[in-house]
Amino acid sequence: MVRDAHVPGGHVPSRHTLENLHTETRTFAPLVGMAAHANATGYEYKKAKADSLEYWREAALRLSWKQPFTEILDWSDAPVARWFHDGTLNACDNAVDRHVREGRGDRVAFHFVGEPGDTQTLTYADMLDRVQRAANGLLSLGVGKGDRVAIYLPQIPEAVVAMLACARIGAIHSVIFGGFSAESLRQRIDDAEAKLVITADGGNRRGAHLALKPLVDEALAPTAEHPTACESVKHVLTVKRTGQETAWQDGRDLWWHDVVDPQLPEHEPEWVEAEHPLFILYTSGTTGTPKGLYHTTGGYLTGVAHTHRIVFDIKPETDVYWCTADVGWVTGHSYIVYGPMINGATQVLYEGTPNTPHEGRWWEIIQEYKVTILYTAPTAIRTFMKWGHAIPDQYDLTSLRLLGSVGEPINPEAWMWYRNVIGGDRCPIVDTWWQTETGSILISPLPGVTATKPGSAMTAIPGIAVEVVDDSGAPVRNGEGGYLVITEPWPSMLRGIWGDRHRYQSTYWNHFDGMYFAGDGAKKDVDGDLWLMGRVDDVMNVSGHRLTTTEIEHALVSHPWVAEAAVVGANDEITGQAVVAFVIVRSDVEGIPTDGEAVATALRNHVRKQIGPLAKPRDILVVAEVPKTRSGKIMRRLLRDVAENRPVGDVTTLADSSVMDAIREGLAAGK
Ligand code: WT7
Repeated sequence: MVRDAHVPGGHVPSRHTLENLHTETRTFAPLVGMAAHANATGYEYKKAKADSLEYWREAALRLSWKQPFTEILDWSDAPVARWFHDGTLNACDNAVDRHVREGRGDRVAFHFVGEPGDTQTLTYADMLDRVQRAANGLLSLGVGKGDRVAIYLPQIPEAVVAMLACARIGAIHSVIFGGFSAESLRQRIDDAEAKLVITADGGNRRGAHLALKPLVDEALAPTAEHPTACESVKHVLTVKRTGQETAWQDGRDLWWHDVVDPQLPEHEPEWVEAEHPLFILYTSGTTGTPKGLYHTTGGYLTGVAHTHRIVFDIKPETDVYWCTADVGWVTGHSYIVYGPMINGATQVLYEGTPNTPHEGRWWEIIQEYKVTILYTAPTAIRTFMKWGHAIPDQYDLTSLRLLGSVGEPINPEAWMWYRNVIGGDRCPIVDTWWQTETGSILISPLPGVTATKPGSAMTAIPGIAVEVVDDSGAPVRNGEGGYLVITEPWPSMLRGIWGDRHRYQSTYWNHFDGMYFAGDGAKKDVDGDLWLMGRVDDVMNVSGHRLTTTEIEHALVSHPWVAEAAVVGANDEITGQAVVAFVIVRSDVEGIPTDGEAVATALRNHVRKQIGPLAKPRDILVVAEVPKTRSGKIMRRLLRDVAENRPVGDVTTLADSSVMDAIREGLAAGK
């Protein structure tokens, strides 16, 4: 049983997923027609089980290597792995050049759809032209191998080109999602000591122009608090997307079209060692400062290309694949840029939101481009459920043959709706479990091979060893729950946290001896299949976006009105979890509104400014006190009970058990 103890801030995973588990018994057998042609067969599991290193060696050999590797895995410096380390290759060469070299240059790489309706069709040959010019452009700005480049762009082709151009010259990209604030940008640019920032004047979001460059300007401006921040940045390269007015700092600021377009479309890729870092991606850390996870080249590319081939059963000559994630998240890195492009897939890339200009936009795109594989998140599916099936019913979705889900546990109702309404009861669903840290999918059914159950990610993919363990690290029996761990190294595993080896070890490897602790609760059902149950640490999952309670608490207490703040993730029908904050306002500060709603509005805007719109609390409740243990630790479990409107659980460990009554009474009086 997963308990509060052991994991800091730990809690029993979401009750509603637990309840579903007890009742869900439906099983869908693999489609016979699909099995006959699937990229994966059941033999794959046997082969990987017999010799997983050999299995990964064969997967790595599908990449194009400049110098072949001779050693598969070096685990002597565990938990830092080195995979295929004596080989050399280039990620961009694998994703782009190779296709042109092997006669696939005319294949469409991207059908780009801008939110306002503008479109572009880019073949692999077009991409090669663009990445070579961009690589030369970056070199002309003095960026080279090992330098870090921050990318803060909307979902436009230049985002993909910028990432690949960095990879091409051996620079390390750090993509920052466009929904992050100037303050978040500053932290990330500073931590990575980026030399260059690539941004756009703005992007299109819900029919409006969302400004990006001004946030970069703000992030780079020295302040009293950060007088020397971002001194590493020499240039800001700006793509013209919306045409909005943009402030300009001569010498530092340059237009993408001025720097990149005039370059020659000829550039020899920088051949890097397999362990050369490919990118840094920041995720929420428990201390409030984001941690820069980094991935290297050979193992990461092996993992993403291989899983994209077997989990999505990609047939690059005929499929049209659409992953709706933003390239600013790991899903976009692994399953838009690197995995699919290495496999030579034809993709849809969409800039905007699902309801602009109307709620059928996604289905219209699927109909128009005859999308065959759709990869999206449960929160989107639940939103579409709320809008009603009449909307997708108006479109021809018969081109679809496979559906994927990622980012959070998918509840059986959403799974069934996805299958019936979007998949016409004919498309298998792959519920794919993984993390920024894992780099690629580790748990998922394989289409044509594995039977599926609504709400279960089923089993580890071939070559991956996972287990569900109890507090002592011993495997639980079928029918029981515990902590999800990974027991063997895998090629696309993170290599560390940028600049902090100790934190890598302590975050992931110190909980259970020799095992990677994922931070998720999981249950094995009677058949041994896996059901992911949500996080057991203080990570929240809001619409598939990862946030921690501490970072939002930090943001709240940085506001002059706030004395103390406690944040919990409460179940939410649409977003999976929602941020609920309990705040105590200061008694020694004048002019704080007495109206709780006015305080809440001000604080919500403050969090938006500090972290970004994605972190805005759904509810902010002003309270007189928060429940604490005798040692002073906030009891989030009790606050979660309040936030989810449940009777409050066991209060015996509270220092003052009347606190919960006061909170309840205060809330009742406020309503
Ligand atoms: C956390 C990782 C992987 C790309 C997007 C999120 C949760 C992810 C599933 C799934 C249940 C899932 C886990 C994990 N998660 N996929 N299919 N079923 N939970 O990446 O931001 O690094 O978050 O997302 O809790 O630990 P991330």
